[in-house]
Amino acid sequence: MDKIAMFDTKPYDRTWFDQLNTRYHIKYLEPKLTPDTVSLAHGCRAVIPFVNDTLDRTVIDGLCAEGVEMIALRCAGYNNVDRAAAAGRIPVVRVPGYSPYAVAEFTMGLLLTLNRKLHKACFRTRDFNFSLNGLVGFDLHGKTAGIIGTGKIGQIFIQICRGFGMHVLAYDPFPVPDADFSYVSLEELLQKSDIVSLHCPLTEQSRHLINRDTIAQMRDGAYLLNTSRGMLVESEALLDALKSGKLAGAGLDVYEEETDFFFEDRSDSIDRDTILSLLVSMPNVVLTSHQAFLTTEALHNIAKVTLENLDAFFRDGTLQNEVR
Ligand code: NAI
Repeated sequence: MDKIAMFDTKPYDRTWFDQLNTRYHIKYLEPKLTPDTVSLAHGCRAVIPFVNDTLDRTVIDGLCAEGVEMIALRCAGYNNVDRAAAAGRIPVVRVPGYSPYAVAEFTMGLLLTLNRKLHKACFRTRDFNFSLNGLVGFDLHGKTAGIIGTGKIGQIFIQICRGFGMHVLAYDPFPVPDADFSYVSLEELLQKSDIVSLHCPLTEQSRHLINRDTIAQMRDGAYLLNTSRGMLVESEALLDALKSGKLAGAGLDVYEEETDFFFEDRSDSIDRDTILSLLVSMPNVVLTSHQAFLTTEALHNIAKVTLENLDAFFRDGTLQNEVR
């Protein structure tokens, strides 16, 4: 059986790969893929990394030196891959859309939690505190949601927002033809939206799309939702805007320096990222650990498409879902 190395493996990943895999000997490795761990891929024909694995030039050199033939990402985003380093040496494939519903529904969950203060309410009632003081939210009905990025997830989030009776404005440099929602400039979206939600990939153009200047253009008291990639937001600028009250709150499933923390239990560690510590301590921030994808449907599809990507390549060299 061909050996494949899966990095940053968690029990919930194994469940689905174990159910669907019949062809490969998958080495389930707990460490993340880094220059220090790349040698664990020794003897493997492919690696299966996730969002916070490192695929820079050093790691790609290491994979090629180990004779690894393919990088089969088990995620949609590929901002962690040095594509120039991989080009012509080792193909990279991904799982482009395993469940846009999972992420879009979670985004609405963050918004409802933030706005209706469900996180605080749950803590209170567990403590037999049934006071409602400080839990006032607002109706989403009639408010304006600004959606940045109208691909698979953004379009579903638009439908969900409409279900709540919200108005929708959208921005995307590559608009969907014949869309039944209105595209505006980024500036207009920021100025007119009560809630801004990010659904675009991390690229050189989108890095720190939300920064001091763009936050200044947003409505006073707006909410920011980010279930895409942490690096889309300049965290220090966001923190300042939350502290000053410029923004009323943020729902974050991603953080720009998440790699050393997310997916791990770091509760005993005193080595804490300062901005992350401040963000999680803010009453107007709901922060989760890159969890938006985590549904049974998504995990099933991730395993299924990753295995199909491997099968196609090892059958006749077909590059299904290639990252170029
Ligand atoms: P998609 O590729 O279907 O859509 C992305 C859209 O963003 C495209 O329409 C594209 O034109 C647009 N876009 C590109 N650059 C942009 C920019 N600078 N400004 C505004 N729009 C821009 O991707 P999909 O499946 O909708 O995913 C969106 C993002 O969600 C992914 O890139 C990934 O970062 C994130 N994601 C997060 C997950 C989580 O668990 N939190 C899970 C899966 C995806």
